[in-house]
Amino acid sequence: MKPVILLFTCLTLPAATLAAEAPTRILVAYHSVTGNTEGLAKAVRAGAASVSGVEVLLRKVAEAATDDIVNADGILLGTPVYWASLSPEAKSFLDRVGNTLMKARKTAGEGRTAGAFCTGGNIASGKELARLAILAGFLHMRFLVIGAVDAEGYGTLGPEATTGAADPGLSPKELEEARRFGERFARLTRQIRSNMKD
Ligand SMILES: Cc1cc2nc3c(=O)[nH]c(=O)nc-3n(C[C@H](O)[C@H](O)[C@H](O)COP(=O)(O)O)c2cc1C
Repeated sequence: MKPVILLFTCLTLPAATLAAEAPTRILVAYHSVTGNTEGLAKAVRAGAASVSGVEVLLRKVAEAATDDIVNADGILLGTPVYWASLSPEAKSFLDRVGNTLMKARKTAGEGRTAGAFCTGGNIASGKELARLAILAGFLHMRFLVIGAVDAEGYGTLGPEATTGAADPGLSPKELEEARRFGERFARLTRQIRSNMKD
């Protein structure tokens, strides 16, 4: 193509086309002491990274930088269940997201997506409450919340794993649900982002 024609083509490309070329950025932040939530976070990251046009950052909550939060189009937060809720470290990160985004722009999470995942020792000892606590925080910050779909096709609050004696560690099914959630989250975040830039 001649340089003049190439220049004309670039100048006349719709703004949405140019914007769509920027990668969609997803931050997967997690707190984990004994490695279970970290394992689930890695499966979520692998699913998100399988979507083209998406960049994924995996960060321990204490190591996520301010820029990681400000630049994210979507934020996922993983926590171990502590006393039927999220851990203090995960809550502290959630607070940091709200405070950081309110300082950066008054509309906080508007136009961005968010989701939650967790691991807990017992089958029914607070995993729903831990994820709901995270999602409630994100909703108050004006994020668009995205849930998961389990292996049977039912919607869920986000991936979870039981890690105690009843079902030790992370099972292949739990890891696969987490990977699928990462893919779904990244795909929907990319779509929402490109629609909002139209
Ligand atoms: C202080 C503390 C409180 C906990 N409370 C609960 C609880 O209420 N319900 C539950 O199912 N598991 C509970 N657990 C178990 C953890 O949620 C579980 O071991 C989890 O998989 C740990 O995640 P990690 O390996 O990423 O640190 C608790 C663990 C700790 C250390």
